[in-house]
Amino acid sequence: MLRSISDLDDIQYYGKKVLVRVDFNITINNGAVTEDYRIRSAIPTIEYLVKRGAKVILASHLGRPKFRDHNNTLAPVAIRLKEILNRNVDFIDDCIGPEVQAKIDKLNYGSILLLENLRYYPEEQNNDPEFSKSISSLADVYVNDAFSTSHRKHASTYGAVKNFEIRLSGFSLKKEIEYISMIRYNPKKPFTLVIGGSKIKDKIGALENLLPKADKLLIGGAVAYTFLKAKGFKIGNSLFDEEHYEWVKKALSLYGEKILLPVDHIVSSEENSFSTITGDIPDGMSGFDIGNETSMMFSSEIGGNGFGTIFWNGPMGMFEVSQFSAGTISVAKSMALAFWRGATTLVGGGDSIAALKKSGVSENEVTHLSTGGGATLRFLAGDKMPGIDALERAN
Ligand code: 3PG
Repeated sequence: MLRSISDLDDIQYYGKKVLVRVDFNITINNGAVTEDYRIRSAIPTIEYLVKRGAKVILASHLGRPKFRDHNNTLAPVAIRLKEILNRNVDFIDDCIGPEVQAKIDKLNYGSILLLENLRYYPEEQNNDPEFSKSISSLADVYVNDAFSTSHRKHASTYGAVKNFEIRLSGFSLKKEIEYISMIRYNPKKPFTLVIGGSKIKDKIGALENLLPKADKLLIGGAVAYTFLKAKGFKIGNSLFDEEHYEWVKKALSLYGEKILLPVDHIVSSEENSFSTITGDIPDGMSGFDIGNETSMMFSSEIGGNGFGTIFWNGPMGMFEVSQFSAGTISVAKSMALAFWRGATTLVGGGDSIAALKKSGVSENEVTHLSTGGGATLRFLAGDKMPGIDALERAN
């Protein structure tokens, strides 16, 4: 049984040191935060604790540094957090040790301290017991509000958690679990899946769980070419995933009637040249986006879903490049339309936020925008989620 922060009496927070594991692994360019959705997702939890007089200690990783390097400092996040909350946020350039302890002791009730990048210590990713102890010695209560990193068995998401008697989920983690569980176990019908991106391997587990429940699976992005080849189309030099070809053939033989593949493609043979091709892609050419006819077909499926559920993961093409962005933009706009028409829409995956932004679709035009990339797919696949398991075992 998972307990959330609102399940604890308010009095239990007053003057208590509460360690909140957040996921502030976000894009920072030239020392400034360029995308802050993950920060904003943690705000309800932070404000809830602040209002109840807790000392709020925020811990996160950023990037995958091999050593302490200032390119991966969380200092710019503290600045952005301060702007969003419109209140002071302290920052300390370490995450364990006596100086951190002293700083926490001096904090006023209801104030916020952001610790430096946990991954400056390799012990974090190694789930080292001593490091875990150092983390847990910082606080009285543990809160996980980092769904997007709950698939990692690290010290701050797993090892340290078991040392806390009180371990709770934050509001963002709770909401993520509710929505993604709904997709996993009980999606309202009709259920439409829209899958893009480039790595079939990352999607197999989720697709195996979801395909039996889905009414339609629309496939775009680079993953589509392996499916098209299995259907006997020529795919030219487009990305082909030989390793998972057998799985793709099996999926088509079991669920072929539900699967919609692109009928036309934006292809290119060299930089700055592109054209639309219907059907086979000739040798020397590679597909980089779905074509217009496919966009219309996918739009009508998504927009026509009615009052069911739509889950979208992965762009339809190389949308960062403007000539290959039309397919992704069209899907994003159709998702917004489906939302306004009454469908429950979920969007997840590393590129989703950037894709919505590029399409001019607001976060409020999606029922639930997951903070998770890998974590969302792993949860849908039914894989172990150590960050969630560690909380559950406590209660
Ligand atoms: C993510 O961005 O998916 C999470 O923050 C996890 O990061 P990681 O893949 O580096 O563990």
